[in-house]
Order: sequence, then C-alpha cells, then structure tokens
Amino acid sequence: MPFDWEADFYAATDWDRGAYVGGEDMPGHLETFIERVDVPDTVADVGCGPALVDFELAPRYPQTEFYGYDLAPSVVEANREHAAEAGLSNVHFAVDSLPDLAIDREFDLVYCMATLYFVDDVERALAELYDRVAPGGHLVFNYPNRHTRTWVREEAPAHKREAFERVARGENLLSYDAIEAVIGRRPRSYWTAVGARDETYATRRSPAVFVRKPAPA
Ligand SMILES: C[S@@+](CC[C@H](N)C(=O)[O-])C[C@H]1O[C@@H](n2cnc3c(N)ncnc32)[C@H](O)[C@@H]1O
Repeated sequence: MPFDWEADFYAATDWDRGAYVGGEDMPGHLETFIERVDVPDTVADVGCGPALVDFELAPRYPQTEFYGYDLAPSVVEANREHAAEAGLSNVHFAVDSLPDLAIDREFDLVYCMATLYFVDDVERALAELYDRVAPGGHLVFNYPNRHTRTWVREEAPAHKREAFERVARGENLLSYDAIEAVIGRRPRSYWTAVGARDETYATRRSPAVFVRKPAPA
C-alpha cells in the first residue's frame, strides 16, 4: 500500500509543528530570502504540512497573505484552528494536491519544501508550481535527486522507506538540467542565497533552489 499522509501520519501520530528539512531555521531562511528579493503580497506554501514557516512569518509580515495547501485534510483543519486561536487573519489553508493543483490564481512567492519527494509526475508538479508564480515573483522548492535516491536505498531508516518509495524507484528525481528543461529557467541554490550552505541539512542529497519568473518587459 502506498504511504498515505492523512491515514499513516496525521491521523496516526502526535505530529509537531516543525519543518521537515531545516527545522526551526526555515522561517528565518525564508525571511532572509524575502528581505533579499522583495516582500511579497501573497505567498503559497504547497505541501505546507504543519506550516511552521507560515505561522512564524505571518505576524512578522502582516501585510502579506499566506496560503497553505496540503493534501491531508486533518492538517489543513488543525492549521485553520491554530490560526484562529492565534488571531492570525493573514494565514489561510485549503486542501489541494500536486501534481494537478486546483488553485486558480497566482502568488508573488510559491514555496514547496519537503513535498516533491512524495509526488507522482514531478515534472508536471513543477510546471504547475511555476505556473502559479506571478510575473516578477519567485518559486522556492527542494526536490529529490540521484543522491537522495542513494540515501533512501542505502541509509534511510526503515520507517521512512515507504513514504520515499517513488524516490527509491527513481521515478521522481530532478536535477538543475531537468528543472531548466521543464520551466525554462536555470535554478539557483536557495541554501546559498539564504546563507545556509554550511548547515547540516544543506547536503547534496537535499538541494533547495529558487527561480524568478521574469516580469513582462
Ligand atoms: C514532509 S511533509 C513537509 C511539510 C512542510 N512543507 C515542511 O517543510 O515541513 C510533506 C507534506 O506534503 C504533503 N503532501 C504529500 N504529497 C502531497 C501532494 N501530492 N500534494 C500536496 N501535498 C502533499 C503531506 O501531507 C505533508 O504534509
């Protein structure tokens, strides 16, 4: 049976409001990125999970609207309740899933972290994410590559192998060249851009990148 995020994780465990890659550092990294490029009016976090980044940044950027999307209804509902309890009116959540997003609008920043590992047809998912970026905006994401695959097959703890089965089979691996072939833009390292190059999670098996969508001339 394929890994089911709703049944096998959110409904079955006492999950924490953390971030899967980079943990507590991730809100600060996105803040660094935002300050470097431009403060966005709108952010979409696709595969948001517990949405640590959105919950940390929403109070710091009250003029920015944060939208979290995830395929697991229970984490979406828990996030809505948390936003209401925290009195945050600029964070919103909805169920949606890659590779075919139902969201029919653009955002200044589209963020997708620790999610493409679990998605079928990663090229279509990447095209969908880029399609939701407004002209002049940015897409930030991480992805599985051939080094991630080696890690899953040779080092990953047994309990993670089921969730990473597509990576183990090599079905959804990307590279800078593959990304450029899909969206027509060469990605740049997000870890470098936010000064995280030396962090333990910024390994070659966990690349994180960004691209800017050109604004019309
Ligand atoms: C490892 S968690 C990462 C959560 C968060 N982005 C982070 O960085 O911690 C992966 C999340 O992706 C969601 N997910 C898995 N497959 C997805 C898909 N096809 N479309 C949207 N979300 C998906 C899961 O429900 C889960 O919340």
